Amino acid sequence: MTTREIVENIIAFSVDDRTSKLFEGLWPIQADGVTYNSYLIQDEKNVLIDLSSEFKSDVLMDAVSARVDLSRIDYVVVNHMEPDHSGALKALTRLAPNVQIICTPDATPMLDSYYSIRSHIREVADGEKISIGKRTLSFHHTPLVHWPETMVTFDESSGTLFSCDIFGGYGALPDRLYDSDLDSLDDYLKQALRYYSNILAKFSPQVSRMIEKLTRLAPRIIAPSHGLIWKKNPQLIVDLYRKWSDYVKGDNEPRATLIYASMYGNTANAMKAVVRGLTSVDVPVDVFNVAETHLSYILPSLWTNHGVVIGSPTYEGNIFPGIRHILMDAGAKRIFNKKAAFFGSWSWSSGALREIKAMVEPYQWDVTDALEFEGAAKESVLEQAEKLGAAFGRKLKTER
Ligand code: FEO
Repeated sequence: MTTREIVENIIAFSVDDRTSKLFEGLWPIQADGVTYNSYLIQDEKNVLIDLSSEFKSDVLMDAVSARVDLSRIDYVVVNHMEPDHSGALKALTRLAPNVQIICTPDATPMLDSYYSIRSHIREVADGEKISIGKRTLSFHHTPLVHWPETMVTFDESSGTLFSCDIFGGYGALPDRLYDSDLDSLDDYLKQALRYYSNILAKFSPQVSRMIEKLTRLAPRIIAPSHGLIWKKNPQLIVDLYRKWSDYVKGDNEPRATLIYASMYGNTANAMKAVVRGLTSVDVPVDVFNVAETHLSYILPSLWTNHGVVIGSPTYEGNIFPGIRHILMDAGAKRIFNKKAAFFGSWSWSSGALREIKAMVEPYQWDVTDALEFEGAAKESVLEQAEKLGAAFGRKLKTER
């Protein structure tokens, strides 16, 4: 837990989670952790903005109660009902039975379905303002960033945007809370891109629209509910989120993501030749063995790069299962408009290429190059694989 007063009378509580293996029960976070950031504004009214997961309720309540008597909290702003932020709500309402919950109308039925809360709810319209004393808070609906009921909160006097999921990132860094606390932001920004590709990528059209809406507020501090608070250079995370959300339009980097699997090393041998071909024409390539790498770490590359090279042996007459899963998940995440190539070995029947073409056609992936070979990757196959890599690389550099 890191607690800091980010501006006078606005206190951040950044609750570290370094014990959960998976975020949303799906995305690995044990190596890097995640934070649930909650904020207390002390004015004539005491206002909490967003909370934490339920299993961190005690940690958060203890920290907040060191600053203010919990029974004197007037409002809790529930920007977003996903339980990584609302899970501590039951604990808070037990300790502060008169607290008013501020949320969007779409959050109200969720308060009932998740926590059987049906009273002390104040719904706010898009753009509505509430005076809490010297400060005025305004509320801005951001549907589908991340869920339909989501909104953000803006403190006009300090220019602080409490942005919830948008502008967030994975990563829990002890005692580091601000962008200015890190000598280099490189590692954190990799975690932020992984978070974006895992959590928000599917909603990129909405993210793009909301960035334009929220930047009209001209925030001076961006305080998300995961990861770093941006005080020194909030424009950096805004610009990156704009770039990442624009990838959905197909204007990706002229680089390649190579995903492969191999049963007995033959497709893996061809993979090395394909990589030689790509690098021979100066096209950077990220290589992932799908049997060893979680989807969470592959998605940032797939989201970012224009080219996808798929190496799959034929398995029982079809695509290798691990590759099928990745491609299905790519479609679910709306990873569309790619240029693609294929290579892979078959033993007693080909078939992987046929299934892959059928799978990626609805994603508007243009499969421009393919090499299916029987059995081992002999010298002649390796030559063809290297040529395939080079030809595909040239297309990535010159064609859209
Ligand atoms: Fe961090 Fe969509 O919750």
